[in-house]
Amino acid sequence: MCGIVGYIGARPAAGLLLSGLESLEYRGYDSAGIAVMENEKISVAKEKGRLAGLREVLDTSPLSGNIGIGHTRWATHGVPSVKNSHPHTNTDGTIAVVHNGIIENHEALKDYLQKKGYSFKSETDTEVIPHLIDYYYDGDLLSAVRKAAEKLDGSYAIGVISSKEPDKIVAVRKDSPLIVGLGKDGNFIASDIPAILSETKDVYLLNDNEFVTLTKSGVAITDADAKPIEKEIFKVQFSAQASQKEGYDHFMLKEIHEQPVAIRNTLRGRLDKDLKLNLDNLKFSDDIEKLYIVACGTAYHAGLVGKKAIETLAKLPCEVCLASEFRYGDPLINKNTAVLVVSQSGETADTLAVLRMAKKLGNTVYAITNVVGSSVAREADYVFYTYAGPEIAVASTKAYTTQLVAFYLFAIHLAELKNTVRQSELDDMKNELLHLDEVVSDILKSDDEIKKLAADIAGERDIYFLGRGLDYFVAMEASLKLKEISYIHSDAYASGELKHGPIALIENGTVVISICTNPEISNKLNSNVKEVTARGAKTIGFTACLSDTAAYNEIIKLPQVDPLLAPLPAIIPLQLLAYHVCTAKGFDVDKPRNLAKSVTVE
Ligand code: F6R
Repeated sequence: MCGIVGYIGARPAAGLLLSGLESLEYRGYDSAGIAVMENEKISVAKEKGRLAGLREVLDTSPLSGNIGIGHTRWATHGVPSVKNSHPHTNTDGTIAVVHNGIIENHEALKDYLQKKGYSFKSETDTEVIPHLIDYYYDGDLLSAVRKAAEKLDGSYAIGVISSKEPDKIVAVRKDSPLIVGLGKDGNFIASDIPAILSETKDVYLLNDNEFVTLTKSGVAITDADAKPIEKEIFKVQFSAQASQKEGYDHFMLKEIHEQPVAIRNTLRGRLDKDLKLNLDNLKFSDDIEKLYIVACGTAYHAGLVGKKAIETLAKLPCEVCLASEFRYGDPLINKNTAVLVVSQSGETADTLAVLRMAKKLGNTVYAITNVVGSSVAREADYVFYTYAGPEIAVASTKAYTTQLVAFYLFAIHLAELKNTVRQSELDDMKNELLHLDEVVSDILKSDDEIKKLAADIAGERDIYFLGRGLDYFVAMEASLKLKEISYIHSDAYASGELKHGPIALIENGTVVISICTNPEISNKLNSNVKEVTARGAKTIGFTACLSDTAAYNEIIKLPQVDPLLAPLPAIIPLQLLAYHVCTAKGFDVDKPRNLAKSVTVE
């Protein structure tokens, strides 16, 4: 995690760095800092906590200069503090470094450097980097960075400035994202596109082990052997406005409301009004007998729904795995398996590692991702973009629903290739898919009702979610949404599992939220709801099965759609519920504690 940014050009650097960091704060917000070249000397400003703190420091003691690097931190090694904040410098302050990633061999390097007389001020892994560059410096900053990088194990995107060569920024990446922005009056580095979007839409997407030297007038890219690399300029398609709140109080609320458009954008060009599916670019070999769907967090929850869709329609066995577990679980990958990774950011470290592992083992890798040009997008064999637009709020909403759309299309595509389901059935589903945006728009109108419910439950200590079949997966996602932004303890259970332990948690007044979208199994769920009611639970039903609602204390109506598609509309009011509970409690919706949007560490 962490976000890095750098600017070199004709304009004052500090303001540009701060506005870049503002867009990157979703990557971490434990502390922030910048280093600026002032009269050929490096000046550093840092502050613990949000960027606002650093702004105050800079208001009191401004930094001038046209070259600088900045960092917003998600703490890994060392507590959030000024001392551990980036930029980190070498002993005499002539080299400053910002870093996103983890240096796994930092202890050994620190040991080595200490023996050479270097002393350390922070608890971070990063601090070895400026010392190592200092150690290798013999008049050429780029070559010193190259030599230092050779010694680093782990992941890094690094930006370096040095007063010994005060006319450049040197940067490199390995397993952490980094892009270069080509501005009108200067050049940028950044962890992500939104950080530079108000300045330029022309970027270079760097690959691992590519080194960049930025000057005011140009950008030179070389590989680890110092060979020049020619790169095509990537034109960003979305606007800076897409990364703004546009009148909404929070990005999360804006992104919840953007879902109808995001769904339409994800369907566009892939599913025509005449129900023709255009996914011919996603090739699928007949030899594939099993698909591993691998992801983290919300994307994993999308994968659970995806498995059901693919198995039901395409009759292809799928296994859904958490990326962090899959990597070390000795999975049975062979020539008859394929891997589908799901990642909004396309940069999640564990998901990316699985992609690389699968490719190394010769498997075809499919990817569902939202970020064009991300590492996952560039390295997968086949990419399905969810055109949700930038998702800024840490809690994922529109990425999840568009991932579901991607899975539905993928499942129908495979079903058509394999001829596993009657075409009329698939056409009915396609037809419903084309109208899902309207269904979602309708649900968004129930905001007031949800807000009222949120006010009623905001004071709870524990809230449980129940569901059966696909509704269990919706319950898991709803529970994650609630706990990550409201800090209410919450768990999701398959409702039939309750009696095997969890029901012991139910006390008088415990809130239990049930999700029911499939009339065929609603009576089973209702029995489970009655069991918790009998033990004093306060029950709230998010239900499309309105014939039997007596068991609930309160009801939120869900629309009736094909049971396979139902998780998509069902999650919308539950996203709103989490949002309103969070605002009722006065917490920071878009930047919940301890979290970061893009998890680029394992
Ligand atoms: C939760 C959330 C996370 C992400 C997870 C994977 O609201 O956003 O659980 O889903 O960190 O991130 P991506 O999809 O970027 O790989």
